[in-house]
Amino acid sequence: MSRKPFFYDITLRDGNQALRNPWNIQEKEIIFKKLLDLGVQGIEAGFPNASETDFEAVEHLSKIAPDNVVISALARCNESDIKRAADAIKYAKKPRIHTFMAMNPLGIEYVIKKPLSEIKDICINSVKLAKSLLPEYGDVEFSVEHFGDCVENIDEVTEVLKEIVNAGATTINLPNTVERFRPQTFVDMVKKIKNALPENITISVHCHNDLGMATATTVESYFAGATQLECSLNGLGERSGNTNIYEVAIALYNSGIEIPLNLNTIYETALLTSEMANVPIWEKAPLIGYDALAHRSGIHQDGVAKTKHLKKGAYRAFNPELIGRGNDELFEFTSQSGKTALYEILNSTPYKISMQEAVYLSHIAKTESEKVGNLSTQKLIELYLNDICDIKGNFLLQDFRKIDSDRFNLTFKYKDKEYDLVAKGNGPIEGCINALKKAGFEIKLINYEQKTIEAQKGEEAEAMSIMQFDNNGKTIIARAINISTAEANVKAIFNGLNLMNNN
Ligand code: KIV
Ligand code: ZN
Repeated sequence: MSRKPFFYDITLRDGNQALRNPWNIQEKEIIFKKLLDLGVQGIEAGFPNASETDFEAVEHLSKIAPDNVVISALARCNESDIKRAADAIKYAKKPRIHTFMAMNPLGIEYVIKKPLSEIKDICINSVKLAKSLLPEYGDVEFSVEHFGDCVENIDEVTEVLKEIVNAGATTINLPNTVERFRPQTFVDMVKKIKNALPENITISVHCHNDLGMATATTVESYFAGATQLECSLNGLGERSGNTNIYEVAIALYNSGIEIPLNLNTIYETALLTSEMANVPIWEKAPLIGYDALAHRSGIHQDGVAKTKHLKKGAYRAFNPELIGRGNDELFEFTSQSGKTALYEILNSTPYKISMQEAVYLSHIAKTESEKVGNLSTQKLIELYLNDICDIKGNFLLQDFRKIDSDRFNLTFKYKDKEYDLVAKGNGPIEGCINALKKAGFEIKLINYEQKTIEAQKGEEAEAMSIMQFDNNGKTIIARAINISTAEANVKAIFNGLNLMNNN
């Protein structure tokens, strides 16, 4: 489908009117600029007749708005609201008056208390007035407030909308002012209006999130013919809010629709909005919640690790980089986690680990986590230093020193028996292995690697020695860390001895 969605943001109007402390002009300008960075095509800047602040804010934002963004002001279907709206947006390069009235049976009977025929006349006159007050480059949007509640009188509403279009409205907005029913019920109604109105009329949807389905309703309404999608940052808006713009954008993006937004600004926009609105982001919020990119169960962590090089990964609805969260994917270790989590977490630190060691350490970490819950990376490093770099067993290293250029002295205990040996060697590794041989403990070193652990704040750099031994045809990996390379080497040999002896 080539039809580009038109993102019309309502944070500064529906979002703002629902804040405990509505924004002043400066605050609105901050959000406005963030919306421009995000790249929305239309911004409902406020409700000028609601307050002097809102009037001034809409007027100010109209002045600073770029040429290609629709700036809209809300007005009820009455002369004073419409005139005030027209006045507030007079400096905009693409001005819009958005006027609205309810046509649902409940509203007609209990709130407006006028027959639909009379409501129709009010709407038509209001649209005509709005149109007459705008320059030819401006346009009028009309909303059937509570459209989602027009299930029983949808045919009459459709006829009224045809006349409202004839009066000059070019965008017909269909709000689910209160979300009560299935998304499909609403989507069918959108389709009906789309089919009844001329092709050049833009169909818009504006969904509130009372039952948590606003994103689904908006996305499916797009596929039913709605081009303008009224959404808000962080889902701000009356009660449970409006459709969250990020969710709609990514859901459409994942469906192959070209999204004219700078998606990589999503996360920074969400954080700023939360701060400005004083509305925290729920940790489980899709896309922007702290936990939205956290993986804790072993099965999920394994799937994520195996597919992390792919754009579309296991247990991952989107690539975190897409929304500006490239570094936020998170593996946390709990009693539900496994070797892959340990492997991924530790290998993202200077304390590298092999899969064989991760398997060994994961049992220890799981037992620990069962007692205390989630283990921090720092705690995992502690376990690693304790249980991987310092293997306890029958072999206890006591001292190792160089006597002269090729002679070394090794003292150690094996099952409480003390050994004190001098052996020759071309360096400490050979010296230590030869001394052990003299004591009757023969080991086969098959590979050896040396790494430097970069200095952490206020600490010295350390040497990591990684050794592979042959243990009756099976390879054993042992490692140790020390500021002295020689000590790291000898300690790694003793860790290897204990690993082989413990098994
Ligand atoms: O929810 C709603 O119906 C509205 C209208 C003013 C569009 O916000
Ligand atoms: Zn609304």
